[in-house]
Amino acid sequence: MKLGIALERREGERRVAATPETVKQLTGLGLEVLVESGAGLESGHPDEAYQDAGAWIVDTLEPGNLDILAHVRPLDPDTARSLKQGAVTVGLASPSSELSTVRALAETGVTSFSLELVPRISRAQSMDALTSQALVAGYRCVLEAATRLPRFFPLYMTAAGTIPPARVLVLGAGVAGLQAIGTAKRLGARVSANDIRPASADEVASMGGTFIRLDVETAEASGGYARELSADRGALQRELLAPHVAAADVLITTAAVPGRRAPLLVTLAMVQAMRPGSVVVDLAAESGGNVEGVVAGEDTVIPTADGRGMVTLVGMKDAASALPADASRLYAKNVASLLELLVRDGAFAPDWEDEVVAGSCLTHDGAVRHGPTAEALAALAPEGAGFAADGSAKEGTN
Ligand code: NAI
Repeated sequence: MKLGIALERREGERRVAATPETVKQLTGLGLEVLVESGAGLESGHPDEAYQDAGAWIVDTLEPGNLDILAHVRPLDPDTARSLKQGAVTVGLASPSSELSTVRALAETGVTSFSLELVPRISRAQSMDALTSQALVAGYRCVLEAATRLPRFFPLYMTAAGTIPPARVLVLGAGVAGLQAIGTAKRLGARVSANDIRPASADEVASMGGTFIRLDVETAEASGGYARELSADRGALQRELLAPHVAAADVLITTAAVPGRRAPLLVTLAMVQAMRPGSVVVDLAAESGGNVEGVVAGEDTVIPTADGRGMVTLVGMKDAASALPADASRLYAKNVASLLELLVRDGAFAPDWEDEVVAGSCLTHDGAVRHGPTAEALAALAPEGAGFAADGSAKEGTN
């Protein structure tokens, strides 16, 4: 079977779905690997490195000639429709926001696997791209803050005087938040953090942070995810967070609730109450933002309430792409590990009883297999009229 590795074309995307190292792993599965010329350049892998590892380089990847297509960003609907019936795709599919592509994949008869849907169980950790990419993003947002802050992160005791450490506050202590805490600690900052999942208190402490308990914590939803706070409790959380935000030199926000807009944790007034020179980095900017007024991909300079200076609000965008070499190294391993489950002796041979295979499958046999996505498509009229709530294509539409 031919496996294609695409040159990612979305603006700002610098990662690649296979590295020369994983090409060896993939050819070992009996696959013929075709890499689109230039696909790995941003990650430090020239065409020759893929060739040396056993891949073929093609000027342009023709999706219609492939049996499997591995990608980073979600495919566009036209690419999905140009695949052949029975083809397989593996990559980040963003099913909740890319419904047109999901529809195209199902209607074309493509079997697609979405890395976001890989169950977060121990056995599937090597395929967990949400975790690998959040690790990169959490690290990166601290560096973004450090380069903008007009002062040191660490404590310095010098002959010319003592410089106290910067105070960093991290809101949202999932994978990215914990990496942000660890990175800020390694840079010498004094770090505190808050999350609404009670279990996160121990995790924050294990990374060297001080957990701020606000008594708005809620029980976890399934899979260890957060539940959305009610409007009242959200308002209470903002009120209780206000003095902690005002005391911070750096604020990093990473809070998310799956399938929902990012929760608003920090109002403009809270930002304006910070000291002049403070920096806010919002990692949730692309999904609505944790900070009022944030713009993804832009720095916004906000005057402080005392009129004495400015706060810089950074709207993170494509955070994992900012470190394309290591983000791709981890992502490519996630892709190859999932393919190891799907391919036997060069043939597509998934075990549909396997919860990782079944859980990460988005479309198969003309149907949308992921329940919430099937429901979202069925609710879309008239475009979604082709799908029943159980995900199957309605008669005459496929
Ligand atoms: P995420 O990206 O969905 O959310 C980030 C963080 O925001 C979460 O910790 C969440 O609790 C927090 N949050 C949501 N609303 C908030 C609010 N109003 N205020 C403050 N914080 C808020 O989460 P992520 O990073 O994907 O992790 C989710 C869960 O999955 C965690 O429990 C994590 O430990 C678990 N996990 C398990 C893995 C495994 O077993 N293989 C792998 C990775 C994560």
